[in-house]
Amino acid sequence: MASLKLLLIAACGFCLVSADFRSDLKDTGVRSVFPGDSDYAAASKAYNLRFTFAPAAVVYPTTPEEVSSVVKVAFDNNYKAVPRGGGHSYVANGLGGKNGSLIVDMGSMKAITIDSSANTAVIETGNRLGDIDLALNAAGRALPHGTCSYVGIGGHASFGGYGFTSRQWGLALDPIFAVNAVLANGTIVKATKDSYPEILWGLKGAAPSFAISTSIEVNTFAAPSYAIVMNYVWNDMDYKTAGESMFSFQNFSLSGPAAPFAGELDIFRGSREGTVNITFAAAWYGDEGSAIPTIQPWLDVMPTPDSAQLLGDGTYIDTVALLSGASHPVNTSTQPDTTDTFYAKSLMTPEGEPMTLEACTAFMKYLAIEGFASNTDWFTQVELYGGPNSKIREIPNNATAFSRRDTLFTFQLYASSFNLQPPYPAEGFTFLDNMATTVTSSMPSDWNYGAYVNYLDNRLQNWQNLYFADNYPKLKYLKDQLDPHDVFMFPTSIEE
Ligand SMILES: Cc1cc2nc3c(=O)[nH]c(=O)nc-3n(C[C@H](O)[C@H](O)[C@H](O)COP(=O)(O)OP(=O)(O)OC[C@H]3O[C@@H](n4cnc5c(N)ncnc54)[C@H](O)[C@@H]3O)c2cc1C
Ligand SMILES: *[C@@H]1O[C@H](CO)[C@@H](O)[C@H](O)[C@H]1NC(C)=O
Ligand SMILES: *[C@@H]1O[C@H](CO)[C@@H](O)[C@H](O)[C@H]1NC(C)=O
Ligand SMILES: *[C@@H]1O[C@H](CO)[C@@H](O)[C@H](O)[C@H]1NC(C)=O
Ligand SMILES: *[C@@H]1O[C@H](CO)[C@@H](O)[C@H](O)[C@H]1NC(C)=O
Ligand SMILES: *[C@@H]1O[C@H](CO)[C@@H](O)[C@H](O)[C@H]1NC(C)=O
Ligand SMILES: *[C@@H]1O[C@H](CO)[C@@H](O)[C@H](O)[C@H]1NC(C)=O
Repeated sequence: MASLKLLLIAACGFCLVSADFRSDLKDTGVRSVFPGDSDYAAASKAYNLRFTFAPAAVVYPTTPEEVSSVVKVAFDNNYKAVPRGGGHSYVANGLGGKNGSLIVDMGSMKAITIDSSANTAVIETGNRLGDIDLALNAAGRALPHGTCSYVGIGGHASFGGYGFTSRQWGLALDPIFAVNAVLANGTIVKATKDSYPEILWGLKGAAPSFAISTSIEVNTFAAPSYAIVMNYVWNDMDYKTAGESMFSFQNFSLSGPAAPFAGELDIFRGSREGTVNITFAAAWYGDEGSAIPTIQPWLDVMPTPDSAQLLGDGTYIDTVALLSGASHPVNTSTQPDTTDTFYAKSLMTPEGEPMTLEACTAFMKYLAIEGFASNTDWFTQVELYGGPNSKIREIPNNATAFSRRDTLFTFQLYASSFNLQPPYPAEGFTFLDNMATTVTSSMPSDWNYGAYVNYLDNRLQNWQNLYFADNYPKLKYLKDQLDPHDVFMFPTSIEE
């Protein structure tokens, strides 16, 4: 029997899909795409074209019961099972992050049920952020989440989910009070604070290591009655002034601007060596007269900007569209998704140990010199998570698996190939690795910085601590209890 199985695997050649696995999947009745099928190439294409993976199969369940059947097939046949939401993982973990996994694409499960009396919603995990916004907005409600409308809620809410409403409402995973999920042995559970509380804890920060969530149940927020986007631009700023600007932005952030304020510094290549272009992208979700007065203390210590704009018609949904941008409309059925070829890293700075002026200046100097010369199309973002008044930090680090709530800034460091197509330039890896080091090496050696799991970095050393910090031992314990056979395994999944 064993040798017959081996023979069948060998006969299948490049695809390494066993006959038992294939026929067991067919028996579930769930639409399945295998290597060699005409739609296999499209089904296994990554958002980040730096990665090409060959899954054993891609399946499209339509109910939690079907998700359970396909997970059991993976379990019985010793395959890895990996959920895919919007497919926007930076390292193609929605394709397993390696070859030969069973991909459970949630894209056929897009129901959104809104309870207008309880102000809750049940959202199936095949939805993308923009479509969730449109459904909720029609009922006057909203949720916190990131800017790109095409990102899937499946991955986004598994690992955090930061956006411009996060200082007043929290991360995308914070409003979740129940998760309907399929465990490694195919069991369907509803995890709440009363039933399977440990599973709920793990799903809010490290979900795909433990289960496939089929839907999340959330508390919704009233859509703000006034909302506006603000853009201030300083072009060709010398790196010394840029370092001082980031330092004074940190100072302003620590002073605790009101929760309806959101902002980040976006830094781009300058047109002359020694300079950078900086955009202060901000939003305000409060009363109309308070937007500018809230940011004025920082503007007062800044040079005069080259341009200053208030954008939007004042409605909340318009800010969602503005922040997502024209290439990603809020209604994701209206145009196809984009792709990119890129490497990205992140750095989360501890609120209790702010960066020194020297660290800020070293960072900007690197962007102004090495960044000016780089053969990549890069940007960096310095996103404000914390500061007094931020809801993100009001929840303890150990209350959910999301471990780094005491973060002041999350840096995203991101570089693409110039035409957004492969190959990604080899120097682009060390360009970003060294960019992060300019900050960390300027700070004390015990500086307790972290990294953000939704900006996943396939070259990161010591990721267990950087991503999960003090929660890692409990995550390992839960993994051992819930998934002893490591069915839900991918690069950076929680280890046994
Ligand atoms: C253009 C762009 C803009 C972005 N902007 C932001 C931003 O503003 N803020 C921010 O925080 N992040 C942002 N991100 C990062 C984004 O949050 C992550 O890449 C996220 O994990 C993508 O989720 P997905 O479902 O689209 O991806 P997928 O590749 O489908 O999934 C990502 C991971 O989540 C797992 N997963 C997916 N569905 C489920 C499920 N149902 N149950 C359990 N696990 C699941 C997958 O197995 C995989 O490990 C952005 C990404 C891109 C590409
Ligand atoms: C994974 O599959 C792809 C596509 O078939 C192939 O190019 C690549 O070499 C494989 N990777 C490994 C590690 O086998
Ligand atoms: C930076 O600013 C200069 C001067 O306005 C402009 O020419 C250039 O296009 C900007 N670069 C980027 C990457 O936006
Ligand atoms: C730091 O912030 C305080 C207010 O909180 C302000 O008075 C001071 O000028 C700021 N300093 C710098 C360097 O930005
Ligand atoms: C989204 O766009 C599709 C295709 O144009 C359309 O059928 C659908 O009604 C739109 N959805 C919403 C909520 O506007
Ligand atoms: C978090 O830590 C505090 C203090 O050690 C402890 O009292 C609490 O029970 C912990 N919470 C969880 C969910 O483990
Ligand atoms: C499946 O796993 C869960 C969690 O470990 C456990 O509670 C349940 O009893 C298991 N079910 C079966 C049928 O083994």
